Amino acid sequence: MFLFHTIKALRDYLYHQRQAGKSVGFVPTMGALHTGHLSLILASKAANDLTICSIFVNPIQFNNPDDLSRYPRTLTADCTLLEGAGCDAVFAPSADEMYPDTPALKFNFGDLERVMEGQFRPGHFNGVAIVVSKLFNMVQPDRTYFGQKDLQQVAVVRRMMLDLGFQIELCPQPTLRETDGLAMSSRNRNLTDEERPVAAHIFKVLTLAKEAILAGQSPAEARQLAYAHFAQEPAFRLEYFEIVNAHSLQTVETTQLHNQTALCVAAYLGKVRLIDNFVF
Ligand code: PAF
Repeated sequence: MFLFHTIKALRDYLYHQRQAGKSVGFVPTMGALHTGHLSLILASKAANDLTICSIFVNPIQFNNPDDLSRYPRTLTADCTLLEGAGCDAVFAPSADEMYPDTPALKFNFGDLERVMEGQFRPGHFNGVAIVVSKLFNMVQPDRTYFGQKDLQQVAVVRRMMLDLGFQIELCPQPTLRETDGLAMSSRNRNLTDEERPVAAHIFKVLTLAKEAILAGQSPAEARQLAYAHFAQEPAFRLEYFEIVNAHSLQTVETTQLHNQTALCVAAYLGKVRLIDNFVF
């Protein structure tokens, strides 16, 4: 497996691979890889000749400096995992390589970012869209793989690709879970031993809300139920529990369900911010 730190080295490598007619799958990450990331690598390998993974903790998508400094950085272990999964090349640039100057570009995703993550993490999706569009320009993949756990990120990237005319196939992949239901996340490793079992409460509440809807309760009632269940677990500080259309991200008001309705949650457990969702 190749490891590149500069854009030039990555481009030179990709130029020769493309000359050889190889298709390219791309998995952007911030490292601290887990089985969920590896499932994206495997999905890419199944559909492309070549799989490239980027590892870059993107400073401009963090609105909270503590979150940025606490974000786990484990490049050596990540490369071992990627090599084991059969990834062909890793791109791990420095912040100076990615941002020779502060970007002047500003994205505005309107309604897509006025809710949920966009509401609680101002500027987050501008930072995501800047780094993802730069990475797309550098890698120029045929397909790209994102985890569905970041449901709003998938919706924003889909919109950014449409607006900028990227000829890349977006391939969202299902969330992988631990045995107790906790969604796999790089942030889980920041949970203390006491917090870790408590974190599965998020999955339990999502399940209860989903069952309530399937039993005929309205989204508003299911949302109320979720808030009540979080109130019973004082270790959590709930930021939001929303029932939305997975593409438009706007609130679903009726009990009329379709396969794009998503239950989305974000909550702090101690210092760790966790997000999760179920899509019907
Ligand atoms: O989902 C992530 O890990 C990041 O938001 C991404 C897409 C790699 C951009 O920094």
